[in-house]
Amino acid sequence: MNQRDWSPVSWTDLPAQQQPRYSDPAHVAEILSEIRSYPSLVSIEEIESLKRSLDEAARGRAFVLQGGNCAERFIDCHQDTITRQFQILTQMSAILTTGLEKPVIHIGRFAGQYAKPRSQEHETLNGHRLPSYRGDAVNSIEPTLQARTPDPTRLLSCYSCSARTLDHLRALSNHGSSPSVPFFTSHEGLLLGYENALTRLDPASGRYYNIGAHLLWIGMRTRQLNGAHVEYFRGIANPIGIKIDPTCSGEELKILLELLDPHHEPGRITLITRLGARNVESVLPSLIRIVQKMKHPVIWSCDPMHGNTQSLSDGRKTRDFSVILDELQQTIHVHRHVDSLLGGVHFELTADDVTECVGGPQAVTRDDLHRRYESPCDPRLNLRQSLEMAHLLTDLLRVTG
Ligand code: PEP
Ligand code: CO
Repeated sequence: MNQRDWSPVSWTDLPAQQQPRYSDPAHVAEILSEIRSYPSLVSIEEIESLKRSLDEAARGRAFVLQGGNCAERFIDCHQDTITRQFQILTQMSAILTTGLEKPVIHIGRFAGQYAKPRSQEHETLNGHRLPSYRGDAVNSIEPTLQARTPDPTRLLSCYSCSARTLDHLRALSNHGSSPSVPFFTSHEGLLLGYENALTRLDPASGRYYNIGAHLLWIGMRTRQLNGAHVEYFRGIANPIGIKIDPTCSGEELKILLELLDPHHEPGRITLITRLGARNVESVLPSLIRIVQKMKHPVIWSCDPMHGNTQSLSDGRKTRDFSVILDELQQTIHVHRHVDSLLGGVHFELTADDVTECVGGPQAVTRDDLHRRYESPCDPRLNLRQSLEMAHLLTDLLRVTG
């Protein structure tokens, strides 16, 4: 890979994981060129302001709360659902701000979180082998072959639902009863054709920005050093997240940082560790040391959800509240021990009273999961679990020594 010759399409020469296979590439190209003409969803000023806030978090003067659905759904693109999702983040951040006595930066997994990486190409449902659901931007969750076939017109809905969500979020943050609450949007930058169509040159700085979200992250399935995703991400000026799973070696992390942020730009990189509670102690210290040795100004965040997923025999997935908390506790402990700082957290959550994660204040059991399991993908903390998590996390972060 050559550092010098990046362009918004230089990724097209490299292997891209997790991309939908469309049957009619000409139709896809037509749709993407339509999207390329659409207005920006977020402004460059907002993106740069998030970068400055993230730098504050890297220095311990602010804390990042990133959260939302595992997968957004088009059918949830309604005023009430968006309002509730915004409010739960606001409530959690109020708990954290009061306890930590520092500003909390809200980054929603919303207004664009419509594409999902999947471990399996296919799944078997009622004896039928079907392509996996890849998020509403790609196909429909309905268990038929037709619904599961990637449909490029869904990219248009992805843009319009993102735009509608953002409009309502802006209204909420500006006209609520409390003073204006700044919020930022984020999603996994997975569908490179779509992300590329939302990439624009800023004539003032000469830099390219993705104007579809404030922050985009690279998922753990697409962080290959010579892959198309890393190539695309290295050329956009947005703050970016990188999911770090336990198979990421120190050497790989070092190269990722060199590729994605050669100039050590403050606020540019958030490392989101999702190691699984059982791996934190053995894996995290050496990763932190590599970053310290490089003197790289990353923001360390912890996603205590994705390394702690259990698959049940009925095909559902769950996560245990106490194990999620355990990963947070161990992560905070390791950072303290090696003189580093946890600057943020990343949750999958909803304000609805779903039964997807076990444990928590309502002591949800495995037998309860069928009652209200609505996530099309990963299990989320429900309202009470989320608020309780915010309180417990505040306590963990406040304990000194
Ligand atoms: C996600 O955040 O929904 C996700 C798929 O995460 P990861 O890439 O860390 O598995
Ligand atoms: Co998920």
